[in-house]
Parts: sequence; C-alpha cells; structure tokens
Amino acid sequence: MPILNRAAEMQEEVAGWRRHLHQTPELNFDVFKTAAFVTDKLKAFGCDEVVTGLGKTGVVGIIRGRKGDGATIGLRADMDALPIEEITGKPWASTVSGKMHACGHDGHTAMLLGAAKYLAETRNFAGAVAVIFQPAEEGGGGGNEMVKDGMMERFGISRVFGMHNMPGLPVGQFAIKPGPIMAATAEFTITVKGRGGHAAMPHGTIDPIVITSQLVGALQTIASRSTDPVEAVVVSVTKFHAGDAYNVIPESAEICGTVRTLKKEVAKKSEERIRALCAGLATAFGASIEVDYDANYPVTFNHPEETIFASDIAADVAGDAQVHRAIQPVMGGEDFSYMLEARPGAFIFIGNGDSAGLHHPAYDFNDEVIPHGMSYWVRLAETALAA
Ligand code: NI
Repeated sequence: MPILNRAAEMQEEVAGWRRHLHQTPELNFDVFKTAAFVTDKLKAFGCDEVVTGLGKTGVVGIIRGRKGDGATIGLRADMDALPIEEITGKPWASTVSGKMHACGHDGHTAMLLGAAKYLAETRNFAGAVAVIFQPAEEGGGGGNEMVKDGMMERFGISRVFGMHNMPGLPVGQFAIKPGPIMAATAEFTITVKGRGGHAAMPHGTIDPIVITSQLVGALQTIASRSTDPVEAVVVSVTKFHAGDAYNVIPESAEICGTVRTLKKEVAKKSEERIRALCAGLATAFGASIEVDYDANYPVTFNHPEETIFASDIAADVAGDAQVHRAIQPVMGGEDFSYMLEARPGAFIFIGNGDSAGLHHPAYDFNDEVIPHGMSYWVRLAETALAA
C-alpha cells in the first residue's frame, strides 16, 4: 500500500502546523509554546489521555484502538530547535533572533501530530498508541529524562519507534540498518598548565602551547593506532585556546572536543587513551594536565527484529526499491538511544530531498515529506497493533 490518501489530503494542514512551529523555535527544555501547541492539538483530536510535563516539558498522547485490548507502542518525535540564526528568507522563517529549526524537529513534530489526528479518527487497531513528543534532543537528553520519569512503565509501552529526516536522501525514500545506527557521544575539556614567561626566554618556561600541540597530534593516534581499523571512532579537537600576546608564553592552554563511537568497548578505550596520553605528556614535559570527560548520549542501537519490521513498513509505504536497509551508521548522536535502551524498537531516516544539511542556517524541513512520514507512522501503528 503506498501513501495513504488521507495523509496526502492532510499535507497542507500539517504543513501549516509545521510552518507555525518553524516560526517560533524554542531551545532545549524550554519548549513551552511548542508543548502547549502539541497538547492543544492532541486534546482537540480526542486522544484518550494527554499527559504533560514528562521529562520536564515532554508530552505524551494516548490513543486507544477500537478493536480491543492489546499492546501499547510508542512513536516519538522531538520538539526543540537550535541556537542558529536562520538565513532561509522563507515566509515562515524564524521570528526569534538566534534560534531556528535547523534539524527539522518542527517537521517531526508536525508529522507525528498528523499521524495522531489520523489514528484518533480511525482507531483501526487493538491496544494503544503512545505519541511521544520530547524536549531537548539537541544536547539536553530530554529522551533520557522522559524515560527516567517512568514513561515506559506508566503507559505500558512495549516497543518504541523514532524517525529523523535526512538531507540528501530523496523524498519518498527511507534508510535504516540493524544494530548501531548512530554514535555514542562524549565531550572532553583538557587544560594544560605549564609555566608562563618571556617568549624570548623559553628555557625558563613550561610552554603549554607546545605541549598541547603535541597532545592534539597524539590524540589522532586513538583512531589511527589504538583502535582496530574496522571499528569506528572519531576524535575531533574543536577548540584550542591559549595566549594573548606576541611576546608572552602563557601559563595554560585549553582544548575541547568530541569523541564518537559505535561500541562500548571502543568508547571506554578512547577515554582511557585520552587520559593516558595526557598523563604521559604531563610527565614528559613537567606540566600538569587536567581531563574533564563527559560521556553523553549512548549508541542508538536498532533492535534486529524491530528493524526488519520498520523496514517492511517503509517498503509497504514507499516501495521496496525506495528503502535502504543496510546504510552506514551516522556518527552523529541521538537521544532516542535512551528509549531504545529501555525498550526494543528502531530508528529510521526519511529522505528530506536536496536540502541544506542539518544544523545549517539555510536548512528547512521539506513539506513534501509529510505524507510519507505520516503514512509510515500510521501503517506502523496499524500493523504492529493489528487485532
Ligand atoms: Ni535532529
């Protein structure tokens, strides 16, 4: 069965919601207006329960089927935007300076609302659908907060599914893989304390810039020499701050960066190597080196059975040739990972067509995607909960 006729008919309405959300982006857990918009819609659709304030500002709507008792599945969208100044010039561009929906969470929220409206109208399933709208995907761990708030137990959710748009993938196509599909993330801040002094008398100093430069080079060996070449790891140094003058060797230098991995063992080894390299360089040069290391989102791990199920649903909606079932993992992070640690499920990418990349100031969610995404959600719910 291709795209649902009803989803195609609803495209303009859902695009209207999407553009409204796009104009009023909110960050992190502060998605008050967005959550209120979602709540009002879910109530208007006649959801059996609408619960707010889960994971601080998350919202869950419960829709019970008319075919009797059964399991409850969770469908999840994210609501937060990014601290980026939009340059699209679109009529529905952000009205909030310095904030924009540059990751398409406006589209994810609108598509799941569209599916909720359809499912509340038709209720052609047994059991229940939990539509999950989470805050703070972009770094705050809103998905984790909702899980910690007992969302899975409270609504008896047995399986969860997530979806994210993917620029560059044609509209109407889906992409997925079993196992790790997105990376575990960690952030580090390393402070190298030496001894400052006159730039013309370096022998009296312990130069933190020279030491830190060696450290940046040494960190490259985590990927090139400490990790099995067929395993994935990214270590990127993204900030390097030191010094203020031409003729002064500073007291200290600081670097920051991120580590991305697909396996717990590789994540653990990477942290150990960072600490060991810092300790070794500190000894070698007589400096002191402090490592502040924060493991962030875990690996987004697609459960094998649910991945086949989700792939088959996508093929049902889009046609088999339009579904990529074994893509390369993406080394970005995703906090749907916490929901997949709590319950079996799968995370799928949906094509956003030839748009600017995610987190780019020229990015915009493609409203042509709406009927495809809505149809996927609806078919998934009706199939998973067939009486
Ligand atoms: Ni995103």
